[in-house]
Amino acid sequence: MLVLGIETSCDETAAAILHDGAVLSSIVSTQWLHARYGGVVPELASRAHLKLLTPILDQVFFEAGLSKEEIEAVAVTRGPGLIGALLVGIATAKGIAFSRNLPLVGVNHLEGHLWSAAFGGGYIQPPFLALLVSGGHTILIGVEAFGQYKLIGRTRDDAVGEAFDKVAVLCGLNYPGGAEVERLAKQGDRAYHTFPVGMRGREGYNFSYSGLKTAVANFIHKEADAVSHHLEDLLACFQEAAVTALVEPSIKAMQDFGYNTLVVSGGVAANQRLRERLQEESARLGAHFYSPKLEYCTDNATMIAWVGWKRLQAGYQDSLAMSGEANFPIPGMK
Ligand code: KG4
Ligand code: ZN
Repeated sequence: MLVLGIETSCDETAAAILHDGAVLSSIVSTQWLHARYGGVVPELASRAHLKLLTPILDQVFFEAGLSKEEIEAVAVTRGPGLIGALLVGIATAKGIAFSRNLPLVGVNHLEGHLWSAAFGGGYIQPPFLALLVSGGHTILIGVEAFGQYKLIGRTRDDAVGEAFDKVAVLCGLNYPGGAEVERLAKQGDRAYHTFPVGMRGREGYNFSYSGLKTAVANFIHKEADAVSHHLEDLLACFQEAAVTALVEPSIKAMQDFGYNTLVVSGGVAANQRLRERLQEESARLGAHFYSPKLEYCTDNATMIAWVGWKRLQAGYQDSLAMSGEANFPIPGMK
């Protein structure tokens, strides 16, 4: 089945075409216009989606070598996300589905991330533990089967990507700063300072990042030369604490729930230090570890088309009455 996927939930405008789950073409356009504001401006994001989506759709069909008449279904991000931004993608998807009488399927953005290690590398057989780490979410999910999910842990305050972005701004770097923090941290000394690891010693499998962010802000305030002379060291120590706060609950959940496979996904899954630590700890447990290709860590439409295809196969379909939902829960999450 040829599925067109559309993603416009935040500041990436993306489209992809998959054939039975295999990627024929995938295009992502990141809206860098938000950098000067230090965060995504919802109204500007919606307008940029409106401008970018049509040319991106033309390009994705061109790269797949297909005409618009050949597509067999349309999948679109229904939520969670910025409501105005979601509506641009949804209105476009509905227009295509209605004009060609095609099945339409709304996809949860997080469910897309959750499965993004599966494309390019083959299906990952559940059960597995999924660590989903992005700019808006930090959650641990037990995946029993496609569409059968169990919430195991989540952040009590900030998302880990948000912490990377906020620390980047504190250090005078551009938004979003996660990738730049990692690049600088690679050259830093992890023994320079010890920052607190959120939720360490607490019951359960939750995360916390507001304390770490405040600790970095206080340290910068106290140590006058921290940013000017020790930027790499400071970021290496922040990154280590941030990564440890993800690794410890994940490994504990693997042991306590008896999972034998760990899968990481979301924008922060691009971080090499996080991948390295999760890989090492999984190997120590004798467990498998999977991570997405780098281009499928951050927002993309391949993940939307892939989950849409799986949902259609499972018999789900949405009507043209479907609308965007800013806080859309993952279908099948208990
Ligand atoms: O999944 P994503 O593209 O968007 C959301 O759904 O939120 O994730 C974006 C987040 C941003 O916070 C960004 O700074 C972070 O992922 N990020 C990284 C890296 N690359 C992107 N964080 C740490 N290390 C990276 N290499
Ligand atoms: Zn995302």
